Amino acid sequence: MPFEVTNVERRRDAAAGAPPLLELRNVSKAYGHVSALSGVDITVGAGEVVALVGDNGAGKSTLLKAIAGVHQITSGEILLDGERVEMASPTDAARLGIETVYQDLALCDNLDVTANLYLGRELRVRRIPFLDRVRMEREAAKVISELASTVPNLQKPVSALSGGQRQAIAVARAALWGSKVVLLDEPTAALGVAQTRMVYELVAKMRDRGLGVIVVTHNMADAFATADRIVVLRLGRNAGEFTPQSNTPDQVVAAITGSDTIR
Ligand SMILES: Nc1ncnc2c1ncn2[C@@H]1O[C@H](COP(=O)(O)OP(=O)(O)O)[C@@H](O)[C@H]1O
Ligand SMILES: [Mg+2]
Repeated sequence: MPFEVTNVERRRDAAAGAPPLLELRNVSKAYGHVSALSGVDITVGAGEVVALVGDNGAGKSTLLKAIAGVHQITSGEILLDGERVEMASPTDAARLGIETVYQDLALCDNLDVTANLYLGRELRVRRIPFLDRVRMEREAAKVISELASTVPNLQKPVSALSGGQRQAIAVARAALWGSKVVLLDEPTAALGVAQTRMVYELVAKMRDRGLGVIVVTHNMADAFATADRIVVLRLGRNAGEFTPQSNTPDQVVAAITGSDTIR
């Protein structure tokens, strides 16, 4: 199972100057006459969290969807471990170890936690058409205890859980199946302070496992608290890269709005 992959080797590779885990080179995407991305470059290392920020319409969701195989890029290249990849669908991306948490979470409310973790990827008892519920329960319990220990009961339908717990399940599902890259689009937009902290603890755990993570966020405090690097998009183009160590939120906001005045 992808969850079992250890990332020690990948970290070693990074230290030895191997290519970044994920790299977008000169990526453009047009929807008909609308240019959503123009010549965007971005890299994400193994064990790195990149916050992707920008105003509404800057192209953040389009960028995630291109990496997730939802949209095909118009030009440019996407490389995984230094190899060019073509993704015609989210299934292709999933096969490469890329998972996405969308804003609407895509959970099935009537199903319980275990069923949601294995949605579309149910384990089967060998050669007979029964689900291996025992094994799924066992694996789900392991994932939840490690990544989302505040989720109380795996047999509850997820409709009975809080917003933060539901978000934790969606993120845990991505961590369960994503062996390389996890993409999160505004994961805390609907959450309170404590729940937001829980989601960002999950993000930190994914980083510790050696995954590359891209988080789209509007919240500067979140970006500064959780990201190793902050990449700004403006009108579909790269508009600066910042680190929490060397930069201030004001500098990032100036890049987002295109104003130099508050620098
Ligand atoms: N499916 C679509 N069809 C046409 N235009 C789109 C579509 N999705 C996004 N766009 C346009 O692409 C640009 C970037 O949008 P988006 O990636 O959603 O930005 P963000 O997530 O940063 O707000 C915007 O001008 C938006 O209107
Ligand atoms: Mg968006």
